[in-house]
Amino acid sequence: MAAIEFSGARKLYGQSLAIKDIDLALPEGAFVVILGPSGCGKSTLLRMIAGLESISGGELRIHGQRMNEREPKDRGCAMVFQNYALYPHMTVGENIAYPLKVAGVSKDERKARVIEVAQALELGALLERRPGQLSGGQRQRVAMGRAMVRQPKVFLYDEPLSNLDAKLRVQMRLELRRLHEKLGATSLLVTHDQQEGMTLADYLVVMNGGVVEQVGTPREVYEKPATKFVAGFLGAPAMNLLPAVTDPSGRNAVFENGPATVMAGRLEAGRELVVGIRPEHVGEGTLPLTVELVEDLGHAALVHGRLSGGAAVQLVRPVERAPGRGEKIGIGFDPARLHLFDGRTGQRLEAHAVAENHEAVSQPRVTTH
Ligand SMILES: Nc1ncnc2c1ncn2[C@@H]1O[C@H](COP(=O)(O)OP(=O)(O)OP(=O)(O)O)[C@@H](O)[C@H]1O
Ligand SMILES: [Mg+2]
Repeated sequence: MAAIEFSGARKLYGQSLAIKDIDLALPEGAFVVILGPSGCGKSTLLRMIAGLESISGGELRIHGQRMNEREPKDRGCAMVFQNYALYPHMTVGENIAYPLKVAGVSKDERKARVIEVAQALELGALLERRPGQLSGGQRQRVAMGRAMVRQPKVFLYDEPLSNLDAKLRVQMRLELRRLHEKLGATSLLVTHDQQEGMTLADYLVVMNGGVVEQVGTPREVYEKPATKFVAGFLGAPAMNLLPAVTDPSGRNAVFENGPATVMAGRLEAGRELVVGIRPEHVGEGTLPLTVELVEDLGHAALVHGRLSGGAAVQLVRPVERAPGRGEKIGIGFDPARLHLFDGRTGQRLEAHAVAENHEAVSQPRVTTH
């Protein structure tokens, strides 16, 4: 059974549709990361699960039970926000125990649970301190503890790491993952940071403009982006996305005003598409490229150039073999490394494989996913 399941779920704010008929089933015990640009509806979706936003249409089920009308406190979810306001006048221990106190749990049980949680979070030595006497990461852990203490079945995190500095973020990322393994609950984390998504998630849900563009493991989403949007959103430096049209043979993609590259299979002739290739996959070859700028990334050089037809291309080269600005070099695209997307819909295309000598046979077929 899915831990969390949306069927045709939507959210209207006045006239505007923030969540557009989403179907989504998230497996129990998984770490799921909802990833997408600002304003795409990530927080809204999370708040709909927590019960902090009403559901305008469709259904939400948690562990098989309809939740649309349930009070937030009866949903078995704990939410950790970006601004995890701790009570400054309370000690760490009191902060963690607070939700239990509100729920009327006895003093002895509160104490036992706080000790348990503090142990898991390595806060045992800090229970008597106040939030003002803690580092950012420690405060973060106290906020986590406050969520954990009620032993929820589902943890909901809305950008929990975005207030931390870069180093602490990485450290807390590891801690979140470790905690998840230890607790075995379902975790749902919202972020616009693709690296956070890639590293934390068992499953990524990539959102854009109120719709889910793709669900999959980070590997799947990275290696086989379902749409042009996902292709451009995941990966740094970002994938090159070059508009092109197939030639009469259907085997080559011709870039605007410019050179052509061979595809791994065949599409219909004259098809408008977008050819994607990651900068780290750009090889050497015969496509003429003029280098406009070279950025030293430390471990590699990022080369910005233009094909003869004018299309901008970025590629990664070892620093010691990086070309200079203004230099003309030859690049090539390995057909197996290309990602093809429909020029109009942005949906992924799979070029149809054809054996060399089957030139004249059958209609070219196109499969979309
Ligand atoms: N209370 C509200 N009333 C009206 N519109 C809202 C409300 N809350 C959010 N929206 C709109 O709904 C859309 C989705 O907002 P949401 O907060 O879910 O985005 P997000 O993906 O979490 O973005 P961010 O990464 O910036 O936090 C946005 O266009 C936003 O302006
Ligand atoms: Mg948000």
